[in-house]
Amino acid sequence: EAVVPFFGEHQAGITTPAQDRLHMAAFDVTTEDRKELIKLLKDWTAAAESMTTGQPTGRTGAVDGPYDAPPEDTGEALDLAAAKLTLTFGFGVGLFEKDGKARFGLEGRRPEALIDLPHFPGDDLQPGRTGGDIVIQACADDPQVAVHAIRNLARIGFGKVRVRWSQLGFGRTSSTSRAQVTPRNLFGFKDGTNNLKVEDNALLDEHVWVSSGPAGEQWMTGGSYLVARRIQMHIEIWDRTSLREQEGLIGRTKGVGAPLSGGDEFSTPDFAMAGRNGDPLIPMDAHVRLAHPDQNNGVRMLRRGYNFTDGSDGLGHLDAGLFFIAFVKDPRTHYVPMQLTLAKSDTLSVEYLKHTGSGLFAVPPGVQAGGFIGEGLF
Ligand code: HEM
Repeated sequence: EAVVPFFGEHQAGITTPAQDRLHMAAFDVTTEDRKELIKLLKDWTAAAESMTTGQPTGRTGAVDGPYDAPPEDTGEALDLAAAKLTLTFGFGVGLFEKDGKARFGLEGRRPEALIDLPHFPGDDLQPGRTGGDIVIQACADDPQVAVHAIRNLARIGFGKVRVRWSQLGFGRTSSTSRAQVTPRNLFGFKDGTNNLKVEDNALLDEHVWVSSGPAGEQWMTGGSYLVARRIQMHIEIWDRTSLREQEGLIGRTKGVGAPLSGGDEFSTPDFAMAGRNGDPLIPMDAHVRLAHPDQNNGVRMLRRGYNFTDGSDGLGHLDAGLFFIAFVKDPRTHYVPMQLTLAKSDTLSVEYLKHTGSGLFAVPPGVQAGGFIGEGLF
């Protein structure tokens, strides 16, 4: 089945099985006209519905329009299937306010959880890879389908939005369903073993979906918050690190992904178990110890990231890493504290990673037929 339904209670692209490819783009909204913004969201909804079913955008598509006008669809996905395309939309702080002034009549509508993320130790964020008023995550099993989707949405938004940053990703770095095998990140380790999965209904309600909030925030009920972090990995240094050291930094074996306390990939880690020398088998600074719910007030997140390589860093190394994407109920409780811990104490983060881009977006609930993305906000 190559089609993932666009309409539903929640937006697709969160708990739906993670596809192989990503194209994410963040846009700055350049119009200040509320009507134009609403029209754009309606046009985007119609185009998203078409493209996720494998159809071109517009009434006349790529080749059936007037001969003397530019086609409504750009055409590069004409012979391709839907490839499980999902399009997930989110709103950044900048949609609600600019220079301290409300935009689009949205006074008092910015959700409290849509905070300005703090600066984390070691952050090296580039303005051209950070922020944005609206984000669109396109995931598909075919990269051309994902790129076509973002390109056509950008085209529809011409004159109203401007691409602020865009990121391609390959090789999903997490599973969101127990039916999927766990893929590997560019450090060569399985990533997504202890992720929240679509089968974990109660946990998703507790950790991912926004429940009914204060007045003025009802439009977010059934939505989520998307945290995006472009994390550059120092793979050249990693590749000169011993296997023992690598496994210690993660806290799992590289082969099967088992916790260093023993068992197989899905065994529960035993953080207290010590080796013959008295040291814990899972080191105190291991990534999986510091990121484990036991160390983080019980919080969990749904990770849905992708690997990336974007050419050279200009110093003779690949600019490669992990485009971290997580969906959480509230970034104040479910992201910021964990990121602070990792940025300070996780040797993996401190010595091998550099965050070069960042974004936080309020992802409204799913759209019903006849409605449009973010409708409840207007
Ligand atoms: C687990 C790698 C960044 C949160 C893991 C695992 C690996 C890994 C190999 C073990 C397998 C698994 O359960 O998925 C990486 C790499 C990163 C990165 C290479 C950056 C390039 C982050 C960040 C966060 C995070 C930024 C959150 C702020 C987690 C969590 C787990 C985890 C919550 C599951 C821990 C557990 O419950 O066992 N990561 N990670 N990771 N990571 Fe990361």
